[in-house]
Amino acid sequence: MDALLDTAGLARLREALASAGYTAQGIRDHLGPAATDATARNDFRAALRITEDRPGRLDTLIRLFVCGQTEPLDRVAAALAPLPLESATALLEADGDGVRAAVELEPYGDWWVVADLSAGMRPGRPLPGDHVLGIGGASTTLAAATLRAPVGSALDLGTGCGVQALHLSTHADRVTATDVLPRALRFAATTAALNGLDWELLEGDLVAPVAGRRFDLVVSNPPFVAGPGFSDHVYRDSGRPGDAVCAELVAAAPGLLADGGHMQFLANWLHVAGESWEDRVGDWLAGTGLDAWVIQREVSDPVGYVNLWLSDASEDPRAQPALAAAWLDWFDAQKVDAVGFGLVTLRAGGNDDPTVRIEDLRQTVDGPLGPLVADWFDRQDLLRHGDLLATRFRVAPGLRLRQEAVQGAEGWEVERQLLALTGGLRWIEEVDPVALTLVGACDGTVTLADQVEVLALAHEVPPAVLSEVAIPLVSHLVERGILLPVT
Ligand SMILES: C[S@@+](CC[C@H](N)C(=O)[O-])C[C@H]1O[C@@H](n2cnc3c(N)ncnc32)[C@H](O)[C@@H]1O
Repeated sequence: MDALLDTAGLARLREALASAGYTAQGIRDHLGPAATDATARNDFRAALRITEDRPGRLDTLIRLFVCGQTEPLDRVAAALAPLPLESATALLEADGDGVRAAVELEPYGDWWVVADLSAGMRPGRPLPGDHVLGIGGASTTLAAATLRAPVGSALDLGTGCGVQALHLSTHADRVTATDVLPRALRFAATTAALNGLDWELLEGDLVAPVAGRRFDLVVSNPPFVAGPGFSDHVYRDSGRPGDAVCAELVAAAPGLLADGGHMQFLANWLHVAGESWEDRVGDWLAGTGLDAWVIQREVSDPVGYVNLWLSDASEDPRAQPALAAAWLDWFDAQKVDAVGFGLVTLRAGGNDDPTVRIEDLRQTVDGPLGPLVADWFDRQDLLRHGDLLATRFRVAPGLRLRQEAVQGAEGWEVERQLLALTGGLRWIEEVDPVALTLVGACDGTVTLADQVEVLALAHEVPPAVLSEVAIPLVSHLVERGILLPVT
């Protein structure tokens, strides 16, 4: 797949960007943290003030590619040297006497990412159907949720500008990236070459380009937006009705994953009146043999959902009444009363009895999700294969007990006791006094069996009876990350 510039042009562009200091850190050092953070929120006033009086090469690049300004030809030529302007036509477009950016060229971590101009950089112009997204909130959400253990082979399905493939390059020996849009693959090829990386780039619909192949890790930020099956914007619309694209990805996973391999993707699912969303997603997984953790992070009502995705593509429901109405009418006809958004993580383990959890996780978590997902699977393995009674447990760091009490005849009477994780997944679990005693004694020195023995004596019940209560309780608290095994 050809990049936007030839090999020599890309090498010169890289040299230009690096020598000018057009990197994430270089820009931060130059503008200062406040002005840099403001640009991320589309407030360019400080950045424009700082760069206007001293037109150094970095200033010109910031004005051009970060602030979306039209700059004089001679300054742009100096900023991009040694890349001659005539070799940079894919990056720039004429505007009066000067030039402005024709693509997004964004420093991202230690990389550069090349994509189509964002909606903000093309005021008044709706996004074309084959728009190639730059780095957005969903891209960074998936990147932060991805498992980063070293792997042999990794696949980025629906790569767009190549942002997920960049991350995969840090821990996969071989990276394959696919997209249905040839334009997207040109951008991904440009991103790869500009960063000195080599990816296998394949064109085609969903898993078709990699049929018959297996990967250790598959990630995807697919066109998950749920609707009647529009194909207006390829980055958003899969052409499949409702949430069928996400169901299709789950169905493809067993044939795509190497043994022990993981697949992670962002997904939307319909909340249909009279049906639980958990059952709906559970049906996708039935019979796949995959371990799965599906977490719902947000829920939108239909009107809010349609307006969000119309405005994401710079479409206004007032200017597009027929489109908005068709979308909402379809939701009504399908009895959709909400749409859930979340993360699907699947693992191929060859299990007859896979672990499947489909649950709400709406709280803000502490730190990136990826390591928390890895820990969740590790804890599931302990629950499946370990001997809980023979295990010593300790409480998670920062665990707090919260009590709710009401004023009664004898003073404060505790009504509810809650164990709250202050870090990690930040779960909060209500517990009864016996459970609280058990958790309180988890200092990592004695096995669960010994704890049960002591507690049984104190409550004058046979240890076997208490074990029957303690094992599911401890299993649940281990799953939540409230109790941790001492190894
Ligand atoms: C939401 S964008 C994600 C881009 C990028 N991976 C990221 O994380 O920001 C979805 C991408 O999937 C691609 N895509 C859409 N439909 C597809 C299909 N049927 N098969 C493969 N890729 C598709 C789009 O062209 C687009 O690049």
